[in-house]
Amino acid sequence: MDALGSQSAGGIIESADDATPVVLRAMQGADDVRLRELAGALVKHLHAFAREVKLTEREFEYGLDFLNRIGQATNDAHNEAVLFSDAIGFSTLVCMLNNGNAGSTETAAALLGPFWRANSPRTANGGSIVRSPTAGAELFTSCQVVDPDGRPIADVEVDVWQSSPVGLYENQDDTQADMNLRGKFTTDADGRFGFRSVKPAGYPVPTHGPVGDMLRVQKRHPYRPAHIHFLGFKPGFKTLITQIFVDDDKYLESDVVFGVTRALIGDYRRHDSGEPPASAVVAPWYTLNYRFVMEPGEAVLPTPPIK
Ligand code: BEZ
Ligand code: FE
Repeated sequence: MDALGSQSAGGIIESADDATPVVLRAMQGADDVRLRELAGALVKHLHAFAREVKLTEREFEYGLDFLNRIGQATNDAHNEAVLFSDAIGFSTLVCMLNNGNAGSTETAAALLGPFWRANSPRTANGGSIVRSPTAGAELFTSCQVVDPDGRPIADVEVDVWQSSPVGLYENQDDTQADMNLRGKFTTDADGRFGFRSVKPAGYPVPTHGPVGDMLRVQKRHPYRPAHIHFLGFKPGFKTLITQIFVDDDKYLESDVVFGVTRALIGDYRRHDSGEPPASAVVAPWYTLNYRFVMEPGEAVLPTPPIK
């Protein structure tokens, strides 16, 4: 043990070739085996990256500044780290590795995104999540949650959140009531829940920070196709985090955060005539029927990206 109390000295770095093994040796002291594996692999891959691209000192400085700017752009109402991870496809990769038999089969899961808030208002099945005047075509959803054998799952708590038809979440828009277009539902004995809302619109992700700079230099548009987010939670089942996309959206194949899979494209059906599902509904209105599959597993809630 040395003067600082660490178990393993890495040694002196004599050449670039020494850098990786010396650092890996120095990090062996962590008691947590998984932490050793994660930190070791991260160092190996990061060193390999610098070697592969022959990283210059100016590029290194730029990268560090980019990371610092991600932190500086993050606050209680905005999470630039989540946005960055989403915009480079990393969130979708992690999602797929952890769902659908470790990415080998289709999954109903999708990335969380930066706009989930805990404590959405509990809302009765069939109730509305429109909490302040919100323009847009009315939408009536009818959903069911089942297990992989198709058996309904009762008592699933389902959080729902979406942007308004102008493409802003309530926390980004002073004209919307707190928690507008957010709600928490509980599935009934038949695994069903539903709610009334407005058809969502696509929207640009926030581009005021370093992620915006990245998109601009890569000549990428900042749009997400219209969608509604869902988070299903019930002890005994893996928490289902997903989004259901509007099927006629022009950005389905170029989602800036790579969240769309075929299983997540919903049937948002337009109705121009006939008996509306409630009184005073003006045509056209839309309906969405969707069946969610929850896999057995551990029910863990993510940390809310914003307050
Ligand atoms: C969202 O759908 O809310 C979202 C996801 C990733 C980045 C930005 C927004
Ligand atoms: Fe969203």
